[in-house]
Amino acid sequence: MTLIDLMRARRSVRAYLPDPVGDDDLAAVLEAARLAPSARNLQPTTFIVVREPANRAALQAAYEREWFWTAPVVIAACVDRTSCWKRRQDGRSSADIDAAIALDHLVLAAWERGLGTCWVCAFDPVPARRLLALPEHIELVAMTPLGRPATLEGQGNPERKPLAAVVRYERW
Ligand SMILES: Cc1cc2nc3c(=O)[nH]c(=O)nc-3n(C[C@H](O)[C@H](O)[C@H](O)COP(=O)(O)O)c2cc1C
Repeated sequence: MTLIDLMRARRSVRAYLPDPVGDDDLAAVLEAARLAPSARNLQPTTFIVVREPANRAALQAAYEREWFWTAPVVIAACVDRTSCWKRRQDGRSSADIDAAIALDHLVLAAWERGLGTCWVCAFDPVPARRLLALPEHIELVAMTPLGRPATLEGQGNPERKPLAAVVRYERW
């Protein structure tokens, strides 16, 4: 599959089979995330892989949607806001962008290997950071389940705006 075909085919998956994710698959998607670019190559993103049933059960307090926990693996993308690039003129941080690029690499690599994911940012950050034992300077940006899709039915609207609606030339 070409990259553009992969991008066209990928969907957010909200129903998973309980089949375990193999170590090779897990290593491959984490490697894809590791290769992501980041501002000034500071690489502020860390991925926490949550597989232990007790930890998964506890983490459910931070995101209670049942479908999310049908996947055998959860990956939490965390960022170190103290070690990311900040724009000199206004202090704007690259942290969320860096984490997002890395997670998107992971998401696409997962789909290439027949594994589903779904970005989730609607978690409750207070229990999430406690249950993931995040140090003060680390922030959870997004989580995703990782596993074999059970179905792609009922996954919402995949339509994208036409190109003409999202591109302007020369100025706004
Ligand atoms: C930054 C971000 C946050 C998201 N947060 C959630 C979420 O909390 N819960 C959820 O079910 N989906 C979430 N999604 C998934 C989007 O709803 C989904 O990507 C979008 O509807 C397009 O569908 P597709 O991924 O199948 O192309 C999020 C996606 C992104 C990029």
